[in-house]
Amino acid sequence: MNVVILAAGMGKRMRSELPKVLHLLAGKSLIAHVVDRARSLAPRRIVVVYGHGGEAVPQALAGCGDLRFARQAPQLGTGHAVMQALPHLDDDVPTLVLYGDVPLTRRDTLARLVEAAGSERLGLLTVELADPRGYGRIVREGGHIVRIVEEKDAGEAVRTIREINTGILVAPTPALRRWLAALSNDNAQKEYYLTDVVAAAVHDGVPVASTQPADAWETLGVNSKRQLAELERLFQRNLAEALMDEGVQLADPARLDVRGELVCARDVTIDVNCVFEGKVVLEDGASIGANCVIRDARIGAGAQVLPFTHIEDASIGARARIGPYARLRPGTVLGEDTHVGNFVELKNTRMAAASKANHLAYIGDAVVGERVNIGAGTITCNYDGANKYQTVIEDDAFIGSDSQLVAPVRVGRGATLGAGTTLTRDAPAQRLTVSRARQVTIESWQRPVKKKPGQG
Ligand code: UD1
Ligand code: CA
Repeated sequence: MNVVILAAGMGKRMRSELPKVLHLLAGKSLIAHVVDRARSLAPRRIVVVYGHGGEAVPQALAGCGDLRFARQAPQLGTGHAVMQALPHLDDDVPTLVLYGDVPLTRRDTLARLVEAAGSERLGLLTVELADPRGYGRIVREGGHIVRIVEEKDAGEAVRTIREINTGILVAPTPALRRWLAALSNDNAQKEYYLTDVVAAAVHDGVPVASTQPADAWETLGVNSKRQLAELERLFQRNLAEALMDEGVQLADPARLDVRGELVCARDVTIDVNCVFEGKVVLEDGASIGANCVIRDARIGAGAQVLPFTHIEDASIGARARIGPYARLRPGTVLGEDTHVGNFVELKNTRMAAASKANHLAYIGDAVVGERVNIGAGTITCNYDGANKYQTVIEDDAFIGSDSQLVAPVRVGRGATLGAGTTLTRDAPAQRLTVSRARQVTIESWQRPVKKKPGQG
């Protein structure tokens, strides 16, 4: 089939400079959700009709080589919008019309509509609403759909109809060309209505089929920031339910936000208020504490991420214990059984199995071996203001508290740094290296006492 995605409207009620379809739902633009859903149907062509916001929409989708774009300016209605896409359509297959601001329609719902229409019929996705206000109404005679009437063109009787047009339809492409060419804008909004193709089909003796989505929310569109927030919650609730069905234990499905892809193995637990972005993989038995933000990361089997931890572009080994209040920045790779505790920041650092940095440290551009202990207050001075340098800490080293490792520098296997060391040259293996001033006690020193009035 061909898919046409209508995205030229301006979305005045969003009160934003950004075209409506570029607003984000679950970290991805509305139009990208619709494009992904279209792709899941393996269509022959996908045409995006854009207009309001200039080239912003095609620019935002520039990486997608499979898309074609048709500009609609000015915007004279939904029928006029589909006309702009006609040069791109393949006549041998039917054309499915989707809306760029309706992001939650299930693939299965669209597949059923396309199947019901086949190659000969016009197919409409309709839904019964308790409150149909604002929508085009489906008018039936003897059970058969005969036309759609827009709210603004409807009289009393038609306004009582509760079956509405979701806007999503599929039509045989040569017939669609014919019907669109004959549209008029003689209506309340002076627009070329796509919905008028229904009466044209009936006139031509083309049967009109209709299907309904499993859930009415699948056809909700975004017209305002409030609706965007409502759809975000719907999306997140659906996703949370799917995770729980797979066996993930969520402390509260209403307090989880996934803005990307979250892949969970068995016996994963996630506490409240966590945000997952990009692609995150949680392996068997991993647990995520409250209020963590995790982006593009792999958390190994049995690893514990404790509350208030921030992780970005990192890989964490099995049984590691991270946080609370840890920050793992891009390029962090932690081995098995590692511990990274409160107020520890790691960046572009590999730390091998069973090494620990439990409190208050900055380790950047470093390679840390196994069983290394990094004391509180340790800092790698990796940056001289112009360039960055590497610190190497070999297996079984012990870094005393409050040490500064001025890179490039190496701490040998089994070496110990005394507390407070400023390391500017390599520390040899198995030795104690300490750079602080030697401690002295002044035997003759006396603490000054306050002079009494009249003295001296
Ligand atoms: C449309 C339908 C209505 C249906 C409703 C469902 C028509 C005439 N009416 O009404 O029956 O119940 O959707 O939400 O089709 N667009 C363009 N170019 C245009 C006009 C619109 O690309 O010139 C795009 C918009 O960006 C939007 C979609 O088409 O994504 C729907 O437009 P909108 O103005 O919201 O249509 P409604 O009047 O709500
Ligand atoms: Ca609308």
